[in-house]
Amino acid sequence: MNPLEEKGIPLEKQVRSWHDIVKRPFCKHTVDCYSRTRQILMNGIEVEAWNFKHNFSRTCPDPELSKIVSQTRRIEDMQQTTINWMTPAEQSVLETTLGYEQVAVDLTAWLAQNEPDEYVKETFNFGLLEDFDHLYRYSQWAYMIHGLDPNDILQDMTDVVIGRPTQQHHNCSGVRQLNHYDRKTASPQTKVNIYTLLSGEQQTHNFYAEHGMMYGNDDLRRTYGEICDVEEEHVTMYESLIDPNETPLEKLLLHEFTEVCTYYNCYEDEEDEKLKQIYEEFLGFELGHLQIASELLKKYEKRDPEEIIGNKIILPCRFKSQKEYVADILDKEIGKRMNGKKGYTTVDKIPEDWASYAVQDSVNKDGAPSEQTIHLINTAINMDIVTADDKLRKKEPELLKKGLQLRSNAPNTVPVETYKEMVKVKPMEF
Ligand SMILES: [Fe+2]
Ligand SMILES: [Fe+2]
Ligand SMILES: [Fe+2]
Ligand SMILES: [Fe+2]
Repeated sequence: MNPLEEKGIPLEKQVRSWHDIVKRPFCKHTVDCYSRTRQILMNGIEVEAWNFKHNFSRTCPDPELSKIVSQTRRIEDMQQTTINWMTPAEQSVLETTLGYEQVAVDLTAWLAQNEPDEYVKETFNFGLLEDFDHLYRYSQWAYMIHGLDPNDILQDMTDVVIGRPTQQHHNCSGVRQLNHYDRKTASPQTKVNIYTLLSGEQQTHNFYAEHGMMYGNDDLRRTYGEICDVEEEHVTMYESLIDPNETPLEKLLLHEFTEVCTYYNCYEDEEDEKLKQIYEEFLGFELGHLQIASELLKKYEKRDPEEIIGNKIILPCRFKSQKEYVADILDKEIGKRMNGKKGYTTVDKIPEDWASYAVQDSVNKDGAPSEQTIHLINTAINMDIVTADDKLRKKEPELLKKGLQLRSNAPNTVPVETYKEMVKVKPMEF
């Protein structure tokens, strides 16, 4: 279908009753893991749409234009409530957290394989291995605090094993700043891919920022603090890929188009009847928003929306198991780092004056919480919680050796030797 030719549901029919806005949540025991990841992602998409439109109004001197944007913004907010509140009350913060990192891993892997721009693809693969390690660290806590098998959430679709160590994700913010695409030549796929991932990463940051304090354990609170800050870096990194020369109305169009594409993709893939029905209805809403945004672009800038978003739907969020792809990237790129010149390097080639050293020296001075996590689980059960097959699990010491940059190790770094001992222990059966 050509989204620009669909009328969708008109704005005046998008205001729903409170009973429609707040629905019965899904069941955490029976929901498919990818129904949960879609729900988590779409919450992030709505938060970004809402937040963008507030920033739009704050810099918009035209009251008529600001009024139109405020009307769709109100709908975005109501949609956000519906989507996010499908989360059941009994889903713990750590369970939801594993869901967030499963989104990050399997979404980023999908996007990397469907990204036409090589530089953007490389950046996706880079970020992928960081969220993959977050999933590993949080899985230790899900066991230590709630006695959870990570597969209660991940359902065997995503591996849990060491990634690029979190203690070394901390960069000088300038180092995270990359080259942006050219708004005139970039493909709509690249734009939608980045807007989608950025929304997911921003919401992950917000979730950790708002929920990390809900646990009493100091080491866990610090782990949330540490990973929350990495998500801040991910937002910086992914947003730097977007051309800042896009006009506000062009960005408005891209936001609505991203919503159309993500809802379309979710509607196609969803098997839970209640969620599918929400996605169908909201796709209609977003097609309505897209109409409004394209009319505004034509009226105020005399531009053709098709030049910006093309004339077909893009699939930016097909969730499926990406174990093979991730294991391959893990093997090849665990020792990769950002070089501070908008490109990449490897641990053996980092220059002495690398700007991120100062940041790592400061934040890890008293030990890295993400390393403390492994000391704690090892003290408790003589190994770490890993759900990958035995071959991949046995590779942990080798992966760590390739992935660590010795110059910036935190004082409490878990040594490769400890990993050699941990992988000798028979893996836990839940
Ligand atoms: Fe929306
Ligand atoms: Fe993450
Ligand atoms: Fe992330
Ligand atoms: Fe929208």
